[in-house]
Amino acid sequence: MPDNQRTFIMVKPDGVRRRLAGEVIRRIEAKGYEIREMKLFTIDETLAKKHYAEHVERPFFGELVAFITSGPVVAMVVEGPDAVAGMRQLMGATNPLEATPGSIRGDLATVIGENIVHGSDSPGSAEREVNLFFG
Ligand code: RTP
Ligand code: MG
Repeated sequence: MPDNQRTFIMVKPDGVRRRLAGEVIRRIEAKGYEIREMKLFTIDETLAKKHYAEHVERPFFGELVAFITSGPVVAMVVEGPDAVAGMRQLMGATNPLEATPGSIRGDLATVIGENIVHGSDSPGSAEREVNLFFG
């Protein structure tokens, strides 16, 4: 039996700017997942640094924080059978060049730094991120 899971999903500022929030939500609903929470807001620097804490040593950390705080995001809690891995599959690979056509990033994005959507990468990350944004 699949595990019923909750995962944290976010349409990033590039997705909202490009009017793709509805398209991302449409794909999540069409897949069969439930949206349990949703809010549009602009992330501040403190929250951005907590969210991306795992990347603090990476050379692109400053750009990542600047980008994710550059405009409103649509943050969501998405629930369904194996939703953590299922949403990662729906999103496609981190680099849109490697993301399969049919996935959100494969169909709608071109560059790694503007890949439209975030999704938790494990059940542990999902719990941490849901609490960070909706706790
Ligand atoms: P996300 O956290 O946004 O869902 O993406 P992800 O798990 O697929 O990728 P992750 O490794 O967590 O990286 C977070 C975001 O950092 C940007 N990135 N840039 N320049 C680079 O080499 C590079 N690598 C990662 C991407 O925008 C990625 O989504
Ligand atoms: Mg990640």
